[in-house]
Amino acid sequence: MATAYDRGAGADVSEAEIAVHWREEGYYHPPASFIGQANLTDPGVNERFSEQNFPECYREYADLLTWDRYWHTTLDTSDAPFWKWFVGGRLNASVNCIDRHLARYRNKAALIFVPEPEDEPQAVVTYQELYQRVNEVASLLRDGLGLKAGDRVTIHLPMTPELPVTMLACARLGVIHSVVFGGFSGEACGVRIADSGSRVLVSMDGYYRNGRLLDHKANADIAVETAAREGRQVEKVLVWRRLSGRTATAAPMVAGRDFWMDDLLKEHRGRKVEPVSMDATAPLFLMYTSGTTGRPKACQHSTGGYLAYVAGTSKHIQDIHPEDVYWCFADIGWITGHSYIVYGPLALAATSVMYEGVPTCPDAGRPWRIAERLGVNIFHTSPTTIRMLRKAGPDEPAKYHYRFKSMTTVGEPIEPEVWKWYYTVVGRGEAVITDTWWQTENGGFLCSTKPALDPMKPGSAGPGVPGIYPVIYDEEAKEIPKGTGKAGNICIRNPWPGIMQTIWGDPDRYVKVYYQKYCKNRNSKDWRDWPYFAGDGAVQAADGYFRILGRIDDVINVAGHRLGTKELESACLTVAEVAEAAVVPVADELKGRMPEVYVALKPGVAPSREIEQKVIQAVETIVGKIARPRAVYIVPDMPKTRSGKIMRRVLSAISNRSKDLGDVTTLLNPDVVEQIKQMVQGGKAA
Ligand code: WT7
Repeated sequence: MATAYDRGAGADVSEAEIAVHWREEGYYHPPASFIGQANLTDPGVNERFSEQNFPECYREYADLLTWDRYWHTTLDTSDAPFWKWFVGGRLNASVNCIDRHLARYRNKAALIFVPEPEDEPQAVVTYQELYQRVNEVASLLRDGLGLKAGDRVTIHLPMTPELPVTMLACARLGVIHSVVFGGFSGEACGVRIADSGSRVLVSMDGYYRNGRLLDHKANADIAVETAAREGRQVEKVLVWRRLSGRTATAAPMVAGRDFWMDDLLKEHRGRKVEPVSMDATAPLFLMYTSGTTGRPKACQHSTGGYLAYVAGTSKHIQDIHPEDVYWCFADIGWITGHSYIVYGPLALAATSVMYEGVPTCPDAGRPWRIAERLGVNIFHTSPTTIRMLRKAGPDEPAKYHYRFKSMTTVGEPIEPEVWKWYYTVVGRGEAVITDTWWQTENGGFLCSTKPALDPMKPGSAGPGVPGIYPVIYDEEAKEIPKGTGKAGNICIRNPWPGIMQTIWGDPDRYVKVYYQKYCKNRNSKDWRDWPYFAGDGAVQAADGYFRILGRIDDVINVAGHRLGTKELESACLTVAEVAEAAVVPVADELKGRMPEVYVALKPGVAPSREIEQKVIQAVETIVGKIARPRAVYIVPDMPKTRSGKIMRRVLSAISNRSKDLGDVTTLLNPDVVEQIKQMVQGGKAA
């Protein structure tokens, strides 16, 4: 039987097929200076977190937290695959990230906010100040708006301290936050508001991006309209002010609906709010991500399991100590930011840096100036950012005096060449690198080296992290042994505390997408029968290290962010002239992958630049600028199978300049392939 990795007839193209094929690299060993201070230096961890000790091994992570009531059951599998961790326990996430640190670290920086304009001073939020601000916002949400545990609030904010403050205020009340990436469009936000059933939206008037002050409140208005169209009335829009004493938006405030946060908060100044003690299994937040169907899905993450897992992995893998200045250069609007800017580092009482803007603003030295000025010693970012900085300023890091002890990469495969620049030039050969593989669904890292214990190998994420037992299966659920060089579907054999609980409002989809494929017995309550299907292709080298090749489903990973092919295609179809649309991932030097769009027009409509522009516009307004297609091709017809299915595989091969287009002779319209190839490879693009 053909697997997704063969160019078999009929199979759509997968990311794995166009993955870069680099050779196995040699090892790099962690420097003694790192090992000397690391949190995790005891090789006994492998034994402690081995399968014989599962699931009790995770007590070690749960014990990093402060519980109101200690739990009695580590893992309850009675409703498999809906896993319940630390059952019987009660805790509050904001207490764990703030209150419990006050006695020792009251005056220590919890957050350091670096605005994009370099002449605007950075803002330090101490643990005490964070405590006070979170309490005031919680007071407003509870007493001013009547929100209570279990309600949902959608947060559409840029990278400013108001974002973690609002999240933690929700957590204090047991209100489930749903943060939508600030760069997503108003429409995308509105769809997510409706799906989550939020009646409150938290926004901001504007923010800086690439040297410009963007109007963000305008997105809130579109979001509310969109949500209404989807059947959900937003009652209140709370608008933070980016600049004190100035308004950054031209959009009017709607009376009775829109409120300035600074006005509302006056009444709550100095208030304290008793944290609500939540069940360990109560949802903490929703985080939307893309899948095979057009509708984005909300991963529901738990309070106790999630928090324990991000605290444990932040300590073991990122090596965070309270005295570290840790900078994760990601956006809190993605899972990386939730887990590794907010919850993990703050649970460990670290100082977490947040930067508002783009890496190269005003020049490619910016990140290294920030690192020098703040004394950052742990740095965490995506391959896309590293590629961008390497291209724009390969020699910049050497000009600044900072010193990293550890660095992380996340979100996409990193090319060994890029890895080596990160290691040698950014890290000066003194810092360890952890290449962490995981997903929105997972809460925290799944594969990575343990930085003081395992050697690094450029281009490979590494083995499963403690307590994670990965396996690669072929299409027939046969295990592909390590060292064979054969790719397959990477799965995790066991549940872990950070795994999502379900898809919000759609438990069937949860089972279908992640567990159906390799489930051994649908009635079983034994976790061994329920391997988690990640949707990535991977190979395992003889040393046990996993190399992730990319998505095998209809997901395009752009700059480390997931976009669904179907979501993009349905955006294209909103353009009146478009009859059919197909979106394919194309390898891109900086962003890893970018979408390219093929459209066929309705009968009688002539192709034009204008239509191409409309398609780009539609994708940007419906999904967001991040999804901007690299090119739009208006084709006379789509290549189709005899049953009428669009052959994306062929389009992808053309876009990626692949020599082998596969067998096209069985297509309904083989001639069109040559025409499209001429058009694309002849260089005509929008
Ligand atoms: C997809 C998940 C997890 C936070 C950011 C992305 C890809 C993620 C790596 C890595 C190779 C990676 C996978 C995965 N991916 N990390 N270290 N090496 N690929 O979260 O948006 O849910 O995307 O990103 O394809 O399935 P996400």
